[in-house]
Amino acid sequence: MTRVLHINASPRSGRSQSAQLAGDYLDRRKAGEPDLDIDVLDLWAETLPEFDGDKNAAKLSFFGVGEMDAAGKSAWDQIVAVTQRFVDADEYVFNIPMWNGGIPYKLKHYIDVITQPGLLFGFDPERGYFGLLENKTAHVFYTSGVFAPGADAKYGKDFHSTYMDWWFGLVGIDKVVSNRHQPSILTADPAGDLEKARERARAAA
Ligand SMILES: Cc1cc2nc3c(=O)[nH]c(=O)nc-3n(C[C@H](O)[C@H](O)[C@H](O)COP(=O)(O)O)c2cc1C
Repeated sequence: MTRVLHINASPRSGRSQSAQLAGDYLDRRKAGEPDLDIDVLDLWAETLPEFDGDKNAAKLSFFGVGEMDAAGKSAWDQIVAVTQRFVDADEYVFNIPMWNGGIPYKLKHYIDVITQPGLLFGFDPERGYFGLLENKTAHVFYTSGVFAPGADAKYGKDFHSTYMDWWFGLVGIDKVVSNRHQPSILTADPAGDLEKARERARAAA
Protein backbone atom coordinates (compact mmCIF):
# COMPACT_ATOMS: atom_id res chain seq x y z
CA MET A 1 0.00 0.00 0.00
CA THR A 2 1.35 3.43 -0.95
CA ARG A 3 1.34 5.94 1.88
CA VAL A 4 0.87 9.57 0.87
CA LEU A 5 1.41 12.42 3.31
CA HIS A 6 -0.54 15.51 2.24
CA ILE A 7 0.96 18.62 3.83
CA ASN A 8 -1.32 21.63 3.68
CA ALA A 9 0.48 24.96 4.14
CA SER A 10 -2.51 27.27 3.52
CA PRO A 11 -4.76 28.47 6.37
CA ARG A 12 -7.65 29.22 4.00
CA SER A 13 -9.40 25.85 4.40
CA GLY A 14 -12.18 25.51 1.83
CA ARG A 15 -11.16 28.76 0.10
CA SER A 16 -7.56 27.71 -0.46
CA GLN A 17 -6.73 27.37 -4.13
CA SER A 18 -3.56 25.38 -3.55
CA ALA A 19 -5.46 22.96 -1.26
CA GLN A 20 -8.16 22.62 -3.91
CA LEU A 21 -5.54 21.65 -6.51
CA ALA A 22 -3.91 19.13 -4.16
CA GLY A 23 -7.40 17.77 -3.38
CA ASP A 24 -8.22 17.38 -7.09
CA TYR A 25 -4.95 15.55 -7.61
CA LEU A 26 -5.50 13.22 -4.65
CA ASP A 27 -9.16 12.53 -5.51
CA ARG A 28 -8.11 11.41 -8.97
CA ARG A 29 -5.30 9.29 -7.57
CA LYS A 30 -7.63 7.66 -5.05
CA ALA A 31 -10.19 6.90 -7.77
CA GLY A 32 -7.55 4.89 -9.63
CA GLU A 33 -5.87 3.42 -6.51
CA PRO A 34 -8.54 2.71 -3.85
CA ASP A 35 -5.83 1.32 -1.52
CA LEU A 36 -3.97 4.63 -1.42
CA ASP A 37 -3.44 5.62 2.21
CA ILE A 38 -3.69 9.42 2.51
CA ASP A 39 -2.53 11.01 5.76
CA VAL A 40 -3.40 14.72 5.93
CA LEU A 41 -1.09 17.01 7.90
CA ASP A 42 -2.76 20.40 8.20
CA LEU A 43 0.03 22.65 9.43
CA TRP A 44 -2.52 25.19 10.68
CA ALA A 45 -4.29 22.65 12.88
CA GLU A 46 -1.20 20.83 14.12
CA THR A 47 0.68 21.90 17.26
CA LEU A 48 4.35 21.63 16.37
CA PRO A 49 7.05 21.61 19.06
CA GLU A 50 9.05 24.82 19.39
CA PHE A 51 12.60 24.35 18.19
CA ASP A 52 13.91 25.86 21.42
CA GLY A 53 17.23 25.82 23.27
CA ASP A 54 17.17 22.14 24.30
CA LYS A 55 16.32 21.06 20.76
CA ASN A 56 19.01 23.34 19.33
CA ALA A 57 21.54 21.83 21.72
CA ALA A 58 20.44 18.28 20.84
CA LYS A 59 20.81 19.01 17.11
CA LEU A 60 24.22 20.62 17.51
CA SER A 61 25.49 17.69 19.61
CA PHE A 62 25.42 15.67 16.35
CA PHE A 63 27.92 18.17 14.93
CA GLY A 64 30.22 17.75 17.95
CA VAL A 65 28.97 20.86 19.80
CA GLY A 66 28.36 19.84 23.44
CA GLU A 67 26.89 16.59 24.74
CA MET A 68 23.35 15.18 24.50
CA ASP A 69 22.11 15.56 28.12
CA ALA A 70 18.81 14.33 29.63
CA ALA A 71 16.91 17.49 28.64
CA GLY A 72 18.33 17.21 25.12
CA LYS A 73 17.32 13.55 24.90
CA SER A 74 13.75 14.31 25.91
CA ALA A 75 13.62 17.21 23.41
CA TRP A 76 15.04 14.97 20.71
CA ASP A 77 12.35 12.31 21.30
CA GLN A 78 9.67 14.88 20.45
CA ILE A 79 11.47 15.75 17.23
CA VAL A 80 11.86 12.10 16.26
CA ALA A 81 8.12 11.51 16.76
CA VAL A 82 7.14 14.34 14.39
CA THR A 83 9.81 13.39 11.87
CA GLN A 84 8.88 9.70 11.82
CA ARG A 85 5.46 10.52 10.36
CA PHE A 86 7.26 12.24 7.48
CA VAL A 87 9.79 9.43 6.99
CA ASP A 88 7.05 6.77 6.98
CA ALA A 89 5.39 8.19 3.87
CA ASP A 90 6.24 6.91 0.39
CA GLU A 91 5.00 10.05 -1.35
CA TYR A 92 4.36 13.65 -0.42
CA VAL A 93 1.79 16.11 -1.68
CA PHE A 94 2.41 19.71 -0.64
CA ASN A 95 0.16 22.69 -1.31
CA ILE A 96 2.02 25.91 -0.74
CA PRO A 97 0.85 29.49 -1.28
CA MET A 98 3.60 32.08 -1.80
CA TRP A 99 3.90 34.37 1.21
CA ASN A 100 6.15 37.37 0.85
CA GLY A 101 8.18 35.70 -1.85
CA GLY A 102 8.70 32.52 0.20
CA ILE A 103 6.82 29.79 2.01
CA PRO A 104 4.31 30.33 4.88
CA TYR A 105 5.98 30.33 8.29
CA LYS A 106 4.09 27.25 9.48
CA LEU A 107 5.76 25.21 6.75
CA LYS A 108 9.17 26.69 7.61
CA HIS A 109 8.53 25.74 11.25
CA TYR A 110 7.74 22.17 10.19
CA ILE A 111 10.83 22.01 7.99
CA ASP A 112 12.98 23.33 10.85
CA VAL A 113 11.59 20.64 13.16
CA ILE A 114 12.04 17.64 10.84
CA THR A 115 15.27 18.51 9.03
CA GLN A 116 17.57 16.65 11.39
CA PRO A 117 20.93 14.92 11.16
CA GLY A 118 20.65 11.16 11.17
CA LEU A 119 16.93 11.37 10.32
CA LEU A 120 16.61 13.32 7.07
CA PHE A 121 20.19 14.25 6.22
CA GLY A 122 23.79 13.42 6.94
CA PHE A 123 26.84 15.65 6.89
CA ASP A 124 30.48 15.06 6.21
CA PRO A 125 33.09 17.85 5.97
CA GLU A 126 34.28 16.53 2.61
CA ARG A 127 30.98 15.47 1.12
CA GLY A 128 28.89 18.23 2.68
CA TYR A 129 25.19 17.62 3.24
CA PHE A 130 23.57 14.49 1.83
CA GLY A 131 19.97 13.31 1.98
CA LEU A 132 18.97 10.16 3.84
CA LEU A 133 15.56 9.66 2.23
CA GLU A 134 15.36 7.25 -0.69
CA ASN A 135 12.74 6.38 -3.30
CA LYS A 136 10.39 9.23 -2.35
CA THR A 137 8.29 11.36 -4.66
CA ALA A 138 6.82 14.81 -4.06
CA HIS A 139 4.01 16.52 -5.95
CA VAL A 140 3.89 20.20 -5.10
CA PHE A 141 1.10 22.68 -5.83
CA TYR A 142 2.36 26.27 -5.78
CA THR A 143 0.08 29.31 -5.89
CA SER A 144 0.82 33.04 -5.85
CA GLY A 145 -1.44 36.02 -6.32
CA VAL A 146 0.83 38.23 -8.44
CA PHE A 147 4.13 36.48 -9.08
CA ALA A 148 4.46 34.31 -12.18
CA PRO A 149 7.57 32.68 -13.64
CA GLY A 150 9.09 35.05 -16.16
CA ALA A 151 7.15 38.10 -14.88
CA ASP A 152 8.95 41.40 -14.40
CA ALA A 153 10.86 41.62 -11.08
CA LYS A 154 8.42 44.31 -9.86
CA TYR A 155 5.86 41.48 -9.41
CA GLY A 156 8.13 39.61 -7.02
CA LYS A 157 10.77 36.95 -6.87
CA ASP A 158 10.57 33.20 -6.32
CA PHE A 159 12.11 32.14 -3.00
CA HIS A 160 9.17 29.76 -2.79
CA SER A 161 9.69 26.87 -5.25
CA THR A 162 13.45 27.56 -5.31
CA TYR A 163 13.65 27.10 -1.53
CA MET A 164 11.58 23.92 -1.65
CA ASP A 165 13.65 22.50 -4.53
CA TRP A 166 16.81 23.09 -2.49
CA TRP A 167 15.26 21.44 0.57
CA PHE A 168 13.99 18.42 -1.39
CA GLY A 169 17.56 17.90 -2.62
CA LEU A 170 18.99 18.32 0.89
CA VAL A 171 16.86 15.52 2.34
CA GLY A 172 17.09 13.19 -0.65
CA ILE A 173 13.66 13.55 -2.28
CA ASP A 174 14.85 13.29 -5.85
CA LYS A 175 11.60 12.96 -7.78
CA VAL A 176 9.72 16.24 -7.55
CA VAL A 177 6.79 17.24 -9.76
CA SER A 178 5.93 20.94 -9.50
CA ASN A 179 2.51 22.29 -10.47
CA ARG A 180 1.94 26.03 -10.58
CA HIS A 181 -1.16 28.19 -10.50
CA GLN A 182 0.54 31.56 -10.84
CA PRO A 183 -0.72 34.23 -10.82
CA SER A 184 -4.03 33.48 -9.14
CA ILE A 185 -5.17 37.10 -8.66
CA LEU A 186 -3.42 39.35 -11.20
CA THR A 187 -5.01 37.76 -14.23
CA ALA A 188 -7.82 38.71 -16.59
CA ASP A 189 -9.65 35.48 -15.87
CA PRO A 190 -9.08 34.20 -12.28
CA ALA A 191 -11.94 31.68 -12.42
CA GLY A 192 -10.96 30.35 -15.85
CA ASP A 193 -7.29 30.07 -14.87
CA LEU A 194 -8.21 28.19 -11.70
CA GLU A 195 -10.32 25.78 -13.73
CA LYS A 196 -7.37 25.14 -16.07
CA ALA A 197 -5.09 24.58 -13.07
CA ARG A 198 -7.60 22.08 -11.66
CA GLU A 199 -7.61 20.20 -14.97
CA ARG A 200 -3.78 20.11 -14.89
CA ALA A 201 -3.87 18.81 -11.31
CA ARG A 202 -6.23 15.98 -12.27
CA ALA A 203 -4.12 15.19 -15.34
CA ALA A 204 -0.98 15.04 -13.15
CA ALA A 205 -2.60 12.13 -11.29
C1 LIG B 1 0.63 36.78 4.03
C2 LIG B 1 0.51 36.69 2.53
C3 LIG B 1 1.59 37.01 1.74
C4 LIG B 1 1.51 36.89 0.35
N1 LIG B 1 2.62 37.18 -0.40
C5 LIG B 1 2.56 37.05 -1.75
C6 LIG B 1 3.71 37.30 -2.55
O1 LIG B 1 4.79 37.60 -2.08
N2 LIG B 1 3.58 37.19 -3.90
C7 LIG B 1 2.40 36.85 -4.49
O2 LIG B 1 2.35 36.76 -5.71
N3 LIG B 1 1.30 36.56 -3.75
C8 LIG B 1 1.35 36.65 -2.40
N4 LIG B 1 0.25 36.36 -1.63
C9 LIG B 1 -0.99 35.88 -2.31
C10 LIG B 1 -1.13 34.34 -2.24
O3 LIG B 1 0.07 33.68 -2.62
C11 LIG B 1 -2.24 33.91 -3.20
O4 LIG B 1 -3.45 34.53 -2.84
C12 LIG B 1 -2.40 32.40 -3.25
O5 LIG B 1 -3.17 32.06 -4.38
C13 LIG B 1 -3.07 31.87 -1.99
O6 LIG B 1 -3.12 30.45 -2.06
P1 LIG B 1 -4.19 29.69 -1.15
O7 LIG B 1 -5.55 30.06 -1.70
O8 LIG B 1 -3.89 28.24 -1.32
O9 LIG B 1 -3.99 30.13 0.27
C14 LIG B 1 0.30 36.48 -0.25
C15 LIG B 1 -0.81 36.17 0.57
C16 LIG B 1 -0.72 36.27 1.94
C17 LIG B 1 -1.92 35.94 2.80
